[in-house]
Order: sequence, then structure tokens, then C-alpha cells
Amino acid sequence: MGVPRVERDLSEKYRLSREDFQDKVVADVGCGMGRHALFVAPHARIVVGLDATDAIRSFAKNLSSLNNAYAVKGDILDPPLAVGQFDFVYSIGVLHHTADPEAAVRKCCDLVKPGGRIALYLYSKVDPGREAVNAALRAITTRLPPDVALGVARSMALAYGTPIGPLVSNVVNMSHEVEFNDRVLGNYDWYGPRYQWHLEEAAVLGWLREEGFALTWMHPTEPIRIVATKEGGPS
Ligand SMILES: C[S@@+](CC[C@H](N)C(=O)[O-])C[C@H]1O[C@@H](n2cnc3c(N)ncnc32)[C@H](O)[C@@H]1O
Repeated sequence: MGVPRVERDLSEKYRLSREDFQDKVVADVGCGMGRHALFVAPHARIVVGLDATDAIRSFAKNLSSLNNAYAVKGDILDPPLAVGQFDFVYSIGVLHHTADPEAAVRKCCDLVKPGGRIALYLYSKVDPGREAVNAALRAITTRLPPDVALGVARSMALAYGTPIGPLVSNVVNMSHEVEFNDRVLGNYDWYGPRYQWHLEEAAVLGWLREEGFALTWMHPTEPIRIVATKEGGPS
């Protein structure tokens, strides 16, 4: 996903624009290869990418031409980052893959300074039928070797491109991305990871409230895409 698409995505799904990051100290939690940071860093004062895996190496490489981007390897459940120092913390498609998403959301909240903001993308709970189909499939796919899992992800991406694909996707979760490769990655990301929590919107809102955040914006449809502001900033 290139920079223009990330910009469009942040605008459509979170109502965020480059101005929201202007001169800000930003943390990208679960940064992966840095597709969001590549858009944010040219506007921000500092961007720190945190990731638990070797994806952090790709982040470092992809952002090596920017002198305000820093790569940190670590787990958001025990983050090696200063508490209360970030103007903006975002975590896109990450915290539902941790062992404890509630703790992970609260850790992200801790990083934000008073008056700062948080933006999260989290999977939501769907209807019991789809949850059951998904759990049954993932019980198999999460045990597959990575190359086989990738083959399954490719087959699903192909299937989605057929006339009945979108119909089947009402029951079996499949990536809806337009580009084939994006669908493969989306499917791999859905069926591969060990943890995949589906969260209740009300629960997430409750955690944010308890952490002293007020809702700024929430996308009206699933999954959960939310922006909230930490109380106590300059008035
Ligand atoms: C689906 S990818 C999303 C990457 C990026 N946010 C994006 O949207 O392109 C999830 C990322 O979260 C990272 N991750 C998973 N659990 C984590 C944890 N406990 N702490 C930090 N990063 C984690 C993974 O290594 C992976 O890079």
C-alpha cells in the first residue's frame, strides 16, 4: 500500500490528515514494514515504530532516508517506550493479535501525553455463525506451515475474484481488497496469526474511558476504527 493510499485510508477510516501529525511525536505500535509511518514521518517531528518481530528491520530499511524515524523492537505488552511522551499513538490491525488485547490497549493509552490522541483498528465480534465458521477454519490454518498457509491465502484471493467469491465471503472471511496481492496478504494476516481476538465495541470504549480518553471519532461500520483524545491537555 503506497503513501497516497495510506493517506486516503486514514482520511476515510479515521478522518485523519497530515495536519493531525504535523510536528507531533508519534508512536506506530505494531508498525510492520512501516507503510503508515512512511506517510506520517515527513509531517511529524518524530515517529517511533515499535514491532515485536523482525518486521522492524524492514521498517528501519524502508524509512532509512528519513532522519526522524526510529525503529524499536519490542512487545506492546511490555513496551520499551517512555510513558506519557507521545502526542499521537496509532496501532492499526495489531492489538487483536496480542495475547491480551485489553492490556495492549491500556499500554498504548499509557504512552499518550495529556491532550494527545490514540487511533486504533481492532477486529470486531461478528454474528455467532460467522464466528463459528471462522474459529473452525482458524483451528486448521493457524497450524499450517507458513508456505502452505500462503497457498491457502492465494487460493482464497483467487476465489474472491470469481463471481461467487463475494457471496461466499459472507460466510467465510476473505479479504475484499481490489488488488490480488493485497487480498493474499489480507487473507494470510487473517488466517495465520496465533491470536485473533474479536472485540466488542462497547468494551473498547469502556477501556478508553477508564484510561481517561474521550471519543473523537468512530467509524460507523465494523471493524472498530476509533480515534480518542486523552483528557488533561492544555485548554
Ligand atoms: C497485521 S500487521 C499490521 C502492520 C501495520 N500496522 C500495518 O498496518 O501495515 C500486525 C503487526 O503487529 C505486530 N505485532 C503483533 N503482536 C505484537 C506485539 N505484542 N507487540 C508489538 N507488535 C506486535 C506484528 O509483528 C505485525 O508486524
